[in-house]
Amino acid sequence: MGRDASPTFVSLAAGTKDFLRWASHGQGRLAALQAAMNEPLEARQMRLFRQKEVLELSGLKPHHWRTWVASHRAGEVGEVRLTIEEVHQFMEAFKVRPSKPAGAKTLRLVIAQLKGGAGKTMTTLHLAHNLACRGYRVLLIDGDPQGTLTTLCGWRSEAVRPEQTMAAVFERIDSPELIEEMPVQPQKTHIDGLDFIPASLEMIGSDFLVASAFMSSPASARRFYTFIDEDLKRIEGAYDLVLIDTSPSFSFTALAMMWAADGLLVPMPPNLPDYRATLDFSQMMGENVAKLEKAANITKTWDPVIFAHVRSDLTQTTALVRSLSADTFGTHRVEESVPSSSAFVNAASRFRSVYEVTGAEVDARSSRRAREAYDALAQRVLQSVGSVWARQVAEGQKRPVVDSEPAAEPTESASLVGVA
Ligand SMILES: Nc1ncnc2c1ncn2[C@@H]1O[C@H](COP(=O)(O)OP(=O)(O)OP(=O)(O)O)[C@@H](O)[C@H]1O
Ligand SMILES: [Mg+2]
Repeated sequence: MGRDASPTFVSLAAGTKDFLRWASHGQGRLAALQAAMNEPLEARQMRLFRQKEVLELSGLKPHHWRTWVASHRAGEVGEVRLTIEEVHQFMEAFKVRPSKPAGAKTLRLVIAQLKGGAGKTMTTLHLAHNLACRGYRVLLIDGDPQGTLTTLCGWRSEAVRPEQTMAAVFERIDSPELIEEMPVQPQKTHIDGLDFIPASLEMIGSDFLVASAFMSSPASARRFYTFIDEDLKRIEGAYDLVLIDTSPSFSFTALAMMWAADGLLVPMPPNLPDYRATLDFSQMMGENVAKLEKAANITKTWDPVIFAHVRSDLTQTTALVRSLSADTFGTHRVEESVPSSSAFVNAASRFRSVYEVTGAEVDARSSRRAREAYDALAQRVLQSVGSVWARQVAEGQKRPVVDSEPAAEPTESASLVGVA
């Protein structure tokens, strides 16, 4: 490499004012981009569904379609396409819209991983869209203050009010009376059956609040184990599943959400650094949750616990890591994997999932393949969720151990100082 005879020195010094200026300038640009590419939240619409897709989603036959279309869309010229509401009405008309069985509980699935950028948010969004399209009632929660999921769901950050977010729930760790005043309200989305709790930066502050409440007194430490559960129980009855996206950390709020969850899904890109990060995640889960268990004298289990490869490509390292992860996590490492695909990136640049974009907007073939990958993963998740529901029905609605009050006063809260 050649070198200039007389190098020019350029200062790149910056201070807090610069950071604030960048944030405000960038937020303005992003808002303009969202306004240009992305209709207002209220005007957002789900794409329409063709006959083939509706029959695949519902498992019904062409004669069902003909009967329904004849009575609901009679006289229409050209190809009939259904809105997502109509897809669900079609399922309901023939009594095939799925839901949790009577006697089973709403299943809370948290999507977590220690390493940033592993694919948590993509996985949460796509599973939620898949499950809602299938007809399940789904509550999607952005539990990450970064709010990536919130942006992908079409929200502008300035439009999110803290009381609409989990910050309102986290605040109740030491103010249980507030639950009456302002229960967190899930927001309707443009997808029938899917509601949403957005995130905002205020949730970073919640972490200090939860941590200090946990340390302050045995009473509030005891509430750590139940306070999210209390809030979710108030709102989740109408849903089959609650999907929670988390931040790449073992913060107190992330741990509290994991504690409140029934199941855990860990997305894992099949490369060695991410495999190692997943082992670290496993270690941290084992150690930190064991401290929580010991302090409260409760044994916590999650069902299901699923490790799924996402952002896969076809390299030798991928094959190596796939075999290592199967060896390590056994049947918890599911075969279904999600390829690395520009379809996800292209859909995300329109603030959408691959379930929302149309063939006119992005390459139809690659987004169909991308959808099929999450279809298969969602199917696998549903198999294990179905077995949890079947067991609950068989056990006569006995709630998993997570919901029981801690038997003993927490005694070791101070030993959790290093958790966050
Ligand atoms: N299957 C995929 N193919 C291609 N790109 C992907 C795929 N999944 C995720 N990405 C991209 O990888 C990046 C990280 O994904 P994502 O935001 O889902 O990760 P994350 O684990 O939620 O990150 P964070 O830890 O910051 O919350 C994003 O830019 C996303 O568009
Ligand atoms: Mg994320």
